[in-house]
Amino acid sequence: MCGIIGYTGPKNAVAVVIDGLKRLEYRGYDSAGVAFTDRGRIKTVRSVGKISRLENLLGDKQRYGKTGVVIGHTRWATHGGPSKKNAHPHKSGGIAVVHNGIIENYLPLRKKLKDAGFEFLSDTDTEVICHLINHRMRELPFEDAVRAAVGELKGAYAIAIINSEEPDKIIGVRRDSPLVLGVGEGESFLSSDASAFLAHTKKAIFLEDGEMAVVTRGGYRITRTGSSEPAGKVPQVLPWSESMAEKNGYKHFMLKEIDEQPSALADIIRGRIAPGGDGINLQEFGLSEKELKKTEKVIIVACGTSWHAGLAGRYMIEQMARVPVEVDIASEFKYRRPILKGNELFISISQSGETADTLAAQRLAKKAGIKTLAITNVVGSTAHREADAVFFIRSGPEIGVASTKTFTAQLSALYMLSVALARARGATTRRDSKRLLQELIELPGKIEDILSRKDEVERIARKNFKKEHFLFLGRGISYPIALEGALKLKEISYIHAEGYPAGEMKHGPIALIDEEMPALFLLSSKSQFVDKILSNMEEVRSRNARVLLVTDGQKPASDDEKPVAGGQKTARHNGEFEAFPAEGIFTVPDANEFLLAVLMAVPLQLLAYYIGVQRGCDVDQPRNLAKSVTVE
Ligand code: G6P
Repeated sequence: MCGIIGYTGPKNAVAVVIDGLKRLEYRGYDSAGVAFTDRGRIKTVRSVGKISRLENLLGDKQRYGKTGVVIGHTRWATHGGPSKKNAHPHKSGGIAVVHNGIIENYLPLRKKLKDAGFEFLSDTDTEVICHLINHRMRELPFEDAVRAAVGELKGAYAIAIINSEEPDKIIGVRRDSPLVLGVGEGESFLSSDASAFLAHTKKAIFLEDGEMAVVTRGGYRITRTGSSEPAGKVPQVLPWSESMAEKNGYKHFMLKEIDEQPSALADIIRGRIAPGGDGINLQEFGLSEKELKKTEKVIIVACGTSWHAGLAGRYMIEQMARVPVEVDIASEFKYRRPILKGNELFISISQSGETADTLAAQRLAKKAGIKTLAITNVVGSTAHREADAVFFIRSGPEIGVASTKTFTAQLSALYMLSVALARARGATTRRDSKRLLQELIELPGKIEDILSRKDEVERIARKNFKKEHFLFLGRGISYPIALEGALKLKEISYIHAEGYPAGEMKHGPIALIDEEMPALFLLSSKSQFVDKILSNMEEVRSRNARVLLVTDGQKPASDDEKPVAGGQKTARHNGEFEAFPAEGIFTVPDANEFLLAVLMAVPLQLLAYYIGVQRGCDVDQPRNLAKSVTVE
């Protein structure tokens, strides 16, 4: 993980780099630092903690007005704990380096460099890079020394390097970690993520593995690390605006991003439904109907929240298109020697498109000759560039470390793919596809309805924020949503939360239930599980635990049904009163079962948010997490 940035140009470079680092902070935030040339010598300023601490340490940025070239780093520790000595940039003679990734052969390199007389001041793997370049510079000019040094590195890296002897230059190199060049008017940027420079330019070049960028104020040159021939790359204009990466008056990115869901979902649908309204424009993704038709199995691989989206996708694809689906956690998939035949469609889901385990799984599938489709949010990400086909979820930058808007967008993407697969395979009629897609078009409005009732969720949060354990239970497609609800809560509030299939409750989790452990149920009135879930709720209540419920509120009427004593009443939907054995109920609008899952995810995100805020947690940057996990 970690975020790196380099700037060269006429602006106050320290201020530009600090601002960029704040935007990269989601990648890691245990320590940070900057380096620049000062009167012919490299100067570094580093500190433990967040960028704001580094900023305080730097003091008045006007002091650095003449510093035209600066590199900066925000860290998520891998080798060596979070401390000042391990914070980047690292130095060797006139060289300073910032690095994102892991150098796998740093131990033999460290030994070799120590034998050559270099002194190591940190516990990091990164320090070998600057010494290696410095060592090579004994015989070679700067650029050639960098080429030679990276030739010796094994592992993953995006590096930005400055040299006090060529003070207007930054060199950037990447392998298996993202690096983007920002091309401005008389200024250039190198960064782990384009959001760091969007305020200055939207023109960007995404470096490929093994490419090297030499960046100066006046321009840039991109070559392969193995040759000095230009790589012939041209900038693309990014579709994101600067304000998309700002808080716009919100206290937290997380709430802003939850609120952005109606527009994000409208964007994902826009232009993608074929004329006639009964199919999906597949060409845009690089897929053909023929390919979908001959797909015999779908394999979905992802991590974290994206994995939960994949699990929900299984219910959608299998039920709509009747194709078997296998879903795996990327770090497991790679090592279990999966049986791949060639007639599968492999789908990787990754918000960032840079998660190391997901990329490794995608590469494995590609190597096995399987069609790979990446569902990602980031144009130019590695998942995008390496996959055969790509479905952009168009959610705009997601800065909050815990995914929210990109989760519901991933679910919507999988829903569209399910309809496309179902159409291609003749598993659904034109009429049914049209109805399914029409319901998707109505989804953003329904999410708006939920968001207009945030106070209801906040009330439930207020009653429960002191609990230390939580259970989330659902069945069918609600089960992965329960998993996501539990993950959100633990990420944001550090409450121990578990998601379970409700039918599994009696096989163990019920032992945990007492008055201190609220159980939140997800109940879709259209599912086949209504009675079973209601029984589970009773089982929990009879053990004195607090029952919370997210439902579409339409408990099917039956003749002998009586309101349950103590149950809270809800008066939504056609004015019908229903009673559930629950103390806190949130009703979501009516939708088909697949889209109901999307709707149910929203109050769970809000619940985690409000509980986190009430417990005084840093909801945008929870402890120990990072948004993009680019190491295995
Ligand atoms: C990290 C983040 C999670 C995210 C996961 C996968 O663990 O903290 O929020 O779901 O990575 O990220 P991806 O970018 O591949 O979706």
